[in-house]
Amino acid sequence: MNTIIIGAYWGDEGKGKIVDILAKDANWVARYNGGDNAGHTIKAQGKRIVLHILPTGVLYGKNVLLGPDVFLNPKTFFADWEHVEEQGFKITGRVVIDPRTHIIMPYHIDLDSKRESGDNTIGTTKRGIGPVAKDKANRTTDITAYDLVSDKFPEKLLRVIKEKKAELIGAGIIKEGEEESYSNKIVEEYKQYATKIKDFIANSVYILNSEENILMEGAQGALLDVVHGTRPYITASNTTAGGVVANCAIDPRKFKTIGIVKAYPSRVGEGPFPTELGEYEKVKNESKDPITEEEKLKANEGDEELIGKWIRQDGHEYGSTTGRPRRTGMPDFVALKYSALINNVDEWAITKLDCLCSKKLRAAIAYEKNSEKTEEFPYDLENYKPVYSDKEYYWEDISEEDAARISSEGYDSLPQGIKEYIKDLVKFTNIPVSIISLNPKREITLTKDVLERTKGYLNE
Ligand code: IMP
Repeated sequence: MNTIIIGAYWGDEGKGKIVDILAKDANWVARYNGGDNAGHTIKAQGKRIVLHILPTGVLYGKNVLLGPDVFLNPKTFFADWEHVEEQGFKITGRVVIDPRTHIIMPYHIDLDSKRESGDNTIGTTKRGIGPVAKDKANRTTDITAYDLVSDKFPEKLLRVIKEKKAELIGAGIIKEGEEESYSNKIVEEYKQYATKIKDFIANSVYILNSEENILMEGAQGALLDVVHGTRPYITASNTTAGGVVANCAIDPRKFKTIGIVKAYPSRVGEGPFPTELGEYEKVKNESKDPITEEEKLKANEGDEELIGKWIRQDGHEYGSTTGRPRRTGMPDFVALKYSALINNVDEWAITKLDCLCSKKLRAAIAYEKNSEKTEEFPYDLENYKPVYSDKEYYWEDISEEDAARISSEGYDSLPQGIKEYIKDLVKFTNIPVSIISLNPKREITLTKDVLERTKGYLNE
């Protein structure tokens, strides 16, 4: 079976763990979008591994691939590689980089940081994603993996820098007359990467259309999609399943789409977030001191700031790429139904339910603006408020032991509160669930009876 993995909210849904589990049975694991703005955290063999650009399939010794819509920072790629080997894993499968993969150059990172320090901030990861995508769309100022390994790389780079001269001077990256020395400096730095990646270059279209058991590993979340996300607070690549089809030229009829739903949404960076708990400005400077028992009581009495903080702490919601505290929110069924629609999701995988233990929860089932209600996810999301269902969800703490027991016994052993939550999510979105994660460990994951039981909800 071939599978596309997408994040259902704004990223950080715990895709790393699910991809890692599914990678076991895959022949190829391919990254299809984004760059090292992603951070996939996997707990395997007692180690915590964070990968930014190398597909997580490497941990199982699988063949891995970077497709044409990936933005590749070669420095991070080899840092990921070293990190994996230092943790005792061997990269034994084939590694393929499509020649059309776009290379992130030092000036992309500088341009991103420069823009973020101005008035129009998006809250990017400052990894150069927007600027590299802009050069890709511009067509004459891009550097692809093919360019990097070509003998003509120095020539091409100088031409690109000359074309971008005004922009680079404007951003204070170079001064008039420094084009050639700046270009030479980059060539000097990047030639080591060119030598190393030369043997990895291969046309991914032929591989992805001839091999079996392919897992397409997404980065970011559907609501950050460059077309369908919450503009302008989005990333610069396609994060939706349709984007995979267009960018990797695969046959969608041969792929199943699994949407990864974190038990609660989170967001890093700016942008509308209807079910947000607390205010982002305060979250940015929030103390990391553990939440007290007294604060927990207040949280469950309805203090939004505190419940947001509690979820952030239990869910370790601090960026694995930037370390920024993430904004957290109540479950949002409206956003998930939209995500199911724009991705043609076949099944959900739900992660981090253990991080919501002991908390009183509600789910958004509509949005409201100027007293008008909608069940649609609006194009102009700003100023919409969530409408919550009257139902409250609650379940007690789940220890690692409990999670392991439930995972081996099957769906029926889940706490009643979780079953209620899942049932409502399934019925609202009209999509069943196939995987439930109650613990970060790869070996503690619930799949037994999950699809069968949740398909049953659709007929109730
Ligand atoms: P960029 O992708 O670095 O340009 O950032 C654009 C927006 O996408 C910002 O709000 C980022 O915080 C967000 N973003 C990018 N990558 C991720 C990710 O992997 N997880 C969550 N948010 C992300």
